[in-house]
Amino acid sequence: MAVLKILAVPDQRLRTKALPVEKVDGRIQDLMGDLLDTMKWEDQGIGLAANQIGVLERVLAIDVGPEYQKAPLLMANPEIIFASSDEQHFQEGCLSVPEQYEDVWRPKEVRVRYLDEHNKSQEITATGLLAACVQHEIDHLNGILYVDHLSALRRKLTLARALRAAEALRRK
Ligand code: NI
Repeated sequence: MAVLKILAVPDQRLRTKALPVEKVDGRIQDLMGDLLDTMKWEDQGIGLAANQIGVLERVLAIDVGPEYQKAPLLMANPEIIFASSDEQHFQEGCLSVPEQYEDVWRPKEVRVRYLDEHNKSQEITATGLLAACVQHEIDHLNGILYVDHLSALRRKLTLARALRAAEALRRK
């Protein structure tokens, strides 16, 4: 397992749809481990998708804490099979959109089907912060960033600020 570099805007891999994995084998388990290690390295990381470390496969890691989950969630091929019409909003940030935080509205509850780290099909119902996080991470696998849920003007401003922040981080 390793801590890898997290890609930031405007890297096109963040805008590319990731491909499904055939099965969760040793290689995908290693990828899940890398995602977890890299996410934990970042103080504010509660979720990370493979695109963010430059791997275009449908794999993600989530850890929003003990209120919602006993252990980190590792998912391959996650699929939203139900989304409530009720929405909620959270202030979202993203390690790939550095130093920006904006309110995002999303369905309040989602049911997600995925393959776990043992290649077993699982389903969870997510609410609260976990619901927001799993939707944010699945968006990544589809090349979508949270700023895409903002108004056109807010998206433009947020992305412009994120690009400046990413550039400054690269120069460090
Ligand atoms: Ni993100």
